Amino acid sequence: MSAAPSKPESCRFTLRDLHERDRDAALDLWVAAWRKAMPEIDFDLRRKWFSGHLAQLKLRGFVMRCATGSRDRRVLGFIALSPKLRHLEQIVVEPDQWGNGVAASLMTEAKRLSPDGLWLDVNEDNSRAIAFYEKHGFRRLNRSRNPKSGLPTFRYAWGDVKRKREKAKGEL
Ligand SMILES: CC(C)(COP(=O)(O)OP(=O)(O)OC[C@H]1O[C@@H](n2cnc3c(N)ncnc32)[C@H](O)[C@@H]1OP(=O)(O)O)[C@@H](O)C(=O)NCCC(=O)NCCS
Repeated sequence: MSAAPSKPESCRFTLRDLHERDRDAALDLWVAAWRKAMPEIDFDLRRKWFSGHLAQLKLRGFVMRCATGSRDRRVLGFIALSPKLRHLEQIVVEPDQWGNGVAASLMTEAKRLSPDGLWLDVNEDNSRAIAFYEKHGFRRLNRSRNPKSGLPTFRYAWGDVKRKREKAKGEL
């Protein structure tokens, strides 16, 4: 799906689709953000995996939107979500932009694109992300494990998710 650029609450950044030409910037940002969130894991080693993962999400119809600096057009953060599955698969913001509203704008955009509900999985020890989701109205549903890392996770949801997930079970 392609959508026109839209203005978030703040004029310091702009929201637009994440394009193929943004791939390197998105990968750099993803590595830097996760390195800060979980310094014990070497995310440089996962960069290639994440590049393939993003391509897979695109093929599966996930929508990718990013926030860019209004002046320098730098990619500051991005989301990947499936409105059909109500699944917010990625939300990542460059570390020097944490706490300044970029993530809030991306979350507003995710809710605009999937207005009835969203679900996601978050590592249990990612306390900053958990505080962020709870601040944005997400509620904890249950515990699980990340199939790749084996680390314990919480499933969080906002809005109407369970009913939709029952319908979409075969696709998850
Ligand atoms: C998750 C992420 C997008 C949130 O963006 P952000 O700009 O950091 O979010 P915010 O600053 O708006 O909200 C974080 C909240 O957690 C609080 N916080 C900071 N460190 C914390 C900690 N160690 N424990 C608990 N809360 C913490 C902040 O004070 C803030 O709350 P406040 O607004 O009431 O002060 C960003 O941190 C990120 O990219 N993280 C790395 C990737 C990631 O974890 N993605 C989500 C995976 S599920």
